[in-house]
Amino acid sequence: FPVEDTRNFSIIAHVDHGKSTLADRLLELTGTIDKTKNNKQVLDKLQVERERGITVKAQTASLFYNFEGKQYLLNLIDTPGHVDFSYEVSRSLSACQGVLLVVDANEGIQAQTVANFFLAFEAQLSVIPVINKIDLKNADPGRVEKQIEKVFDIPSDECIKISAKLGTNIESVLQAVIERIPPPKVHRKNPLRALVFDSTFDQYRGVVANVALFDGVVSKGDKIVSAHTQKTYEVNEVGVLIPNEQPTLKLYAGQVGYLIAGMKDVTEAQIGDTLYLRNQPVEPLPGFKSAKAMVFAGMYPIDQSEYNNLKSAIEKLTLNDSSVTVHRDSSLALGAGWRLGFLGLLHMEVFNQRLEQEYNTSVILTTPTVPYKAVLASAKLIKARRAVQKHLMFIDQNRVMLKYLFPLNEIVVDFYDSLKSLSSGYASFDYEDAGYQTADLVKMDILLNGNIVEELVTVVHKEKAHSVGKTICERLKDSLPRQLFEIAIQAAIGSKIVARETVKAYRKNVLAKCYGGDITRKMKLLKRQAEGKKKLRKIGNIEVPKDAFIKVLKTQ
Ligand code: GTP
Repeated sequence: FPVEDTRNFSIIAHVDHGKSTLADRLLELTGTIDKTKNNKQVLDKLQVERERGITVKAQTASLFYNFEGKQYLLNLIDTPGHVDFSYEVSRSLSACQGVLLVVDANEGIQAQTVANFFLAFEAQLSVIPVINKIDLKNADPGRVEKQIEKVFDIPSDECIKISAKLGTNIESVLQAVIERIPPPKVHRKNPLRALVFDSTFDQYRGVVANVALFDGVVSKGDKIVSAHTQKTYEVNEVGVLIPNEQPTLKLYAGQVGYLIAGMKDVTEAQIGDTLYLRNQPVEPLPGFKSAKAMVFAGMYPIDQSEYNNLKSAIEKLTLNDSSVTVHRDSSLALGAGWRLGFLGLLHMEVFNQRLEQEYNTSVILTTPTVPYKAVLASAKLIKARRAVQKHLMFIDQNRVMLKYLFPLNEIVVDFYDSLKSLSSGYASFDYEDAGYQTADLVKMDILLNGNIVEELVTVVHKEKAHSVGKTICERLKDSLPRQLFEIAIQAAIGSKIVARETVKAYRKNVLAKCYGGDITRKMKLLKRQAEGKKKLRKIGNIEVPKDAFIKVLKTQ
């Protein structure tokens, strides 16, 4: 296919502004999918995406469109809209020359509209503003045009007004893609240079890499080298995604497609890697900034015998989602497991749900935490920093954009939900990392009769130590069985106790029911009691069942 008739583009938008619906209409209009079917979010392939109605993974589809007597190849890369997944957006953009910036005609510019616009702007892409949902009763496309002009400096006559739901004016979108987005700047005669911008793991075929070809050609049977690992592979299959995989004989520069080359090990297909032909080494393409984990949580198999299964499930899923960081970890109470880093809370939930749905595992996920750098000195005495306002801009009379510096642990758990409910759903929110700040944090120990329970040591803000400590002590009290002596549960900062609960003594004698006599029955009961004890962890002389840790550590 001639390069000058190829366009690579993405759709970017705030959550729910209608990316997936527009993608469905584009697929229909180009005959890529059947119009008669009930097409809903065709590119959202994962079960978790359909259930939650959000896009998690960027998907690719090649569309063919006839315009003014000429056929064009339009490669569409769908992108997720939630803050947690903005790394997927920047990855998709690296394979594009332009974007459709979709804005809801009723809601106008929102936080991720701004964040996504700047990702595209920094990547020097052509931006086509598309005002969607003009069919809504309260739609005010004129107001949104003015917002776009004010915030992004794009003349309002460049905006295309559509209804993705009703299919109104979709042709203008495809025409704008052809007219306003330049074809990729590539050289087919040069040696192969292919960027791996995504990869998935297929149980039967191994690694399937999504590639964008910047130079050259790749065919089945070619010997290719990974710039990252320097390993050589033979190409087994290449093809395009329309949107399902369609094998082809070759992939040419300017095309976006997939490639299978016998990569078995999940670490072999690094996203951002450059593939080239053996004997024709090239300068690797600039890779991606690796995604930065913001939220950490422990993950353990419910049963240790499931450890190996879970290990391989995590390995395969992280190939699909390379933004998750994985470190081996172990806990005396929960056994061997991992410490995982996620981009945000939704990302963590989605990862967990995918493990359960796609790999049939069940796991214990501990309460998420955010990273801290500790300085062991009295400088912790420094006053806590609250949010600091950095920037304010009126988008129009009704909407204002505010920028704040926040401690990450304040926004990571329930900030987004609280903001939404306080503003009756009107406010939207996006964040980026602003580095580490000093804060008044303390390490809080949980003690059982004076012995520290390592699993429950946490870092908390000094002002919140009492309430957090109280919650943990109460949860522990509810889940600790009474024992032969009284148990003091304490939350302490250094030597200062900030919360306390007590479990009263109780005498549990398994032999009480045996009136003397029957020795075999006695032995049986004693054996059963000993088995029960295996599931317990001893802290000092206190036996703590595994369940108790799970109840205290588990999210919610
Ligand atoms: P994420 O993938 O989660 O970012 O969402 P999205 O931007 O892909 O939005 P999606 O296409 O799922 O649309 C969100 C909601 O808006 C759905 O309920 C759609 O039916 C609805 N919607 C999309 N386009 C239109 C439109 O033109 N008019 C109206 N009335 N509703 C629309």
